[in-house]
Amino acid sequence: MQNEVAIITGGSNGMGKFMAKKFVEEGAKVVITGRNEERLEAAKNEIAGGSVDRVYTIVMDVREPEDVARMVEETINHFGSIHHLVNNAAGNFVSPAEKLSVNGWDSVIDIVLNGTFYCSREVGQYWIENKIQGNILNIVATYAWNAGAGVIHSASAKSGVLTMTRTLAVEWGHKYKIRTNAIAPGPIERTGGAEKLFESEQAAKRTLDSVPLGRLGKPEEIADLAHFILSEKASYMNGEVVTLDGGQWLNSFPF
Ligand code: HXC
Repeated sequence: MQNEVAIITGGSNGMGKFMAKKFVEEGAKVVITGRNEERLEAAKNEIAGGSVDRVYTIVMDVREPEDVARMVEETINHFGSIHHLVNNAAGNFVSPAEKLSVNGWDSVIDIVLNGTFYCSREVGQYWIENKIQGNILNIVATYAWNAGAGVIHSASAKSGVLTMTRTLAVEWGHKYKIRTNAIAPGPIERTGGAEKLFESEQAAKRTLDSVPLGRLGKPEEIADLAHFILSEKASYMNGEVVTLDGGQWLNSFPF
């Protein structure tokens, strides 16, 4: 990743921050985006160590197409190019399907499904115009193909993102050699997902019991996998979703 440029949406905390740290360690220049300037600045210092010039922050909302266009323009102005896009920004909360409001549904679909498309479209147009064989990495969840009881908005959106991953892998892979892949993380410690979805002790215990390996994943493990998928070592991987969940989603039979 030496001197390559990666955009990571939602990069000020959780997995996004750990991916940014790993990419900078591997020589990349990284743009992290998010809605909160203070959080982005704090993350920048944490990610960069002594290399603050390798991290650039952009305050934006992936739900706003104008913000997404500005994200691409600012990245090119600042770092000169874009090689990788990680669609990591997400929104989620637990709600029974019948109690979920229209606004609640819309906001998660907007962040996860629409945001991923807006960013991919805008960066993809830049790559196509400039003949750059870039890489897209989407973050989904195993409930993209399994059931997501209690998070119907997120599950429906992630399912759409998984289909988007496979569609772009074929459409843009064929024409432009742009690779598109996804990671489906299980429960990962030190992330917004873990904080939100496993907030009670009971919920945390249920989650741990459901993972055959008996522990949460580490954000560093997601970052290592993301780095591999974006690297030349994975140059034949396209349209794939790699699950990193300790075997959790296969564990449907309690014994
Ligand atoms: C019920 C809720 C709610 C909750 C929000 N809403 N939180 N309803 N229970 N806990 C409803 C609101 O009442 C409102 O509807 C609508 O959703 C929009 O809420 P806002 O707060 O106005 O939206 P906004 O400020 O845009 O925030 C979006 C958000 C928020 C998704 C609601 O949580 C967010 O920004 N999250 C970003 C970070 C995040 O969630 N990270 C975790 C990702 S984990 P009404 O009808 O009242 O107007 C993940 C996968 C985890 O994606 C996988 C684990 C295995």
